[in-house]
Amino acid sequence: MDTQTVVILDFGSQYTQLIARRIREQNVFSVVLPCTARLDEIQAHHPIGLILSGGPSSVYDAGAPAADARLLALGLPTLGVCYGLHFIVHHLGGRVRSAPKREYGHAEVEIEDGSTPLFTGLPASIHVWMSHGDEAEQLPEGFRRVAVTSNALAAIANEQKKIWAVQFHPEVHHTPLGAQLLANFLRICGARGDWTPAHFIESTVAAIRAKVGAGHVICGLSGGVDSSVAAMLVHKAIGDRLTCIFVNNGVLRKNEFENVQKNLRDKLGLKIVAADAGARFLAKLAGVTDPEKKRKIIGAEFIAVFDEEAERITQQTGGVDWLVQGTLYPDVIESSSVKGPSQTIKSHHNVGGLPERMKLKLIEPLRDLFKDEVRRIGRDLAMPEEILNRQPFPGPGLAVRILGEVTAERVALLQEADEIVVGEIKAAGLYTQIWQSFAVLLPVMSVGVMGDQRTYAYTCAIRAVHSEDGMTADWAPLPYDLLQRISSRIVNEVRGINRVVYDITSKPPGTIEWE
Ligand code: XMP
Repeated sequence: MDTQTVVILDFGSQYTQLIARRIREQNVFSVVLPCTARLDEIQAHHPIGLILSGGPSSVYDAGAPAADARLLALGLPTLGVCYGLHFIVHHLGGRVRSAPKREYGHAEVEIEDGSTPLFTGLPASIHVWMSHGDEAEQLPEGFRRVAVTSNALAAIANEQKKIWAVQFHPEVHHTPLGAQLLANFLRICGARGDWTPAHFIESTVAAIRAKVGAGHVICGLSGGVDSSVAAMLVHKAIGDRLTCIFVNNGVLRKNEFENVQKNLRDKLGLKIVAADAGARFLAKLAGVTDPEKKRKIIGAEFIAVFDEEAERITQQTGGVDWLVQGTLYPDVIESSSVKGPSQTIKSHHNVGGLPERMKLKLIEPLRDLFKDEVRRIGRDLAMPEEILNRQPFPGPGLAVRILGEVTAERVALLQEADEIVVGEIKAAGLYTQIWQSFAVLLPVMSVGVMGDQRTYAYTCAIRAVHSEDGMTADWAPLPYDLLQRISSRIVNEVRGINRVVYDITSKPPGTIEWE
């Protein structure tokens, strides 16, 4: 059966991705397109409905987002949200003005006409989240007001045109009945609600099979959730014609090289070539202290090792045609929407540059998914929670957590300290509630005393942060007794570290990693 799709047009609201997720939570697929998408681009998705997002502009602004207003004449069920409402009113012949009283935050909405299907099952009064400075002053012909707040219009409807619009944000958590309103809209769209993990897996596996034919595929595994789930989907489609390459770059976590193989090869049956190249990476890193240089060296060496392994696989299979990548939907949206200039603070290497060099075609089975959806898919594929819940781990690994030169001795120290931090946080039941938690090795020697012995050893910093996406982060207030256990275990068990400090810097102005 075809996948039903709701198209969300992005007018620049910070909540647009949230709308997409709320729709998907009701088992209906959704895509976000920039508001400048052409009509044929919108129609290429064969949408069952359209949602026009909020946005920071006013419809009269010189730079107001320019969507093609003919999308309102496609005959598709349409829901405008905030700016989306202004867009509809403005382009269908009504009038929008700057509101005398701006409304931001919590508000009570009175539903005046509960008969309109958008409000089916909702009480006469609902609590919502508002954020706007404009309001509709005069409605276009055929539209009527169906809900209000104490001082503003809250919703309009035109059943004949199948267009509804709300001034508030049904997608945010602060509108508790927002999910029900969106479910009503999906019912209006005739949504079947069959976009489930099982459906996704079945259709993705079939698509990969059709695409790859009899070809051979390689995949770079990092041990993280994205590359592992992507590899599993391809494996399900073509079995051992997928070979995964997993590189030990010498700066993985303790036992990570063995654990990933155990989980993915032994438990899940993936064909894995494990390249134990740690010594090579460490030789290249000798004497290097500059963080960006470390990243570049690890990136370049990774490509070299990957290349060699890929070449070997090519010899064995007679030719490799495809490369699997675990690209996620937020990256796809980011790169497709018009964004202001953003600065590269740190170069993120990953496997950028590989496909062009190797003349491989890309398979990106997760490019339609958000991270939490990838986890749901992984669960449906019976993958271990250890992989699905793993906190993000940077490509250059422990190298950006060892300040100064990276040596085998320092890596070993940090691996021990890191294992204690992660182990204790897991034991406290906090691992999945924290975005990242880890140890950092500082090449700062300080004096300590152990038993009757004077010590002179390294310092270890503990970092634990809450974050949504890694772009901003707050340091996590870990319980004192947990910090105490971590500190005392590191100092007692890791010979070479005699002092532990806790990093209480948020991002910005700090970064999550120390380098
Ligand atoms: P920062 O330190 O920039 O980190 O606040 C934000 C997120 O990105 C991860 N990170 C990296 N990931 N290669 C990666 O694959 C890198 O070079 C890199 N540097 C930082 C970091 O772990 C955090 O999740």
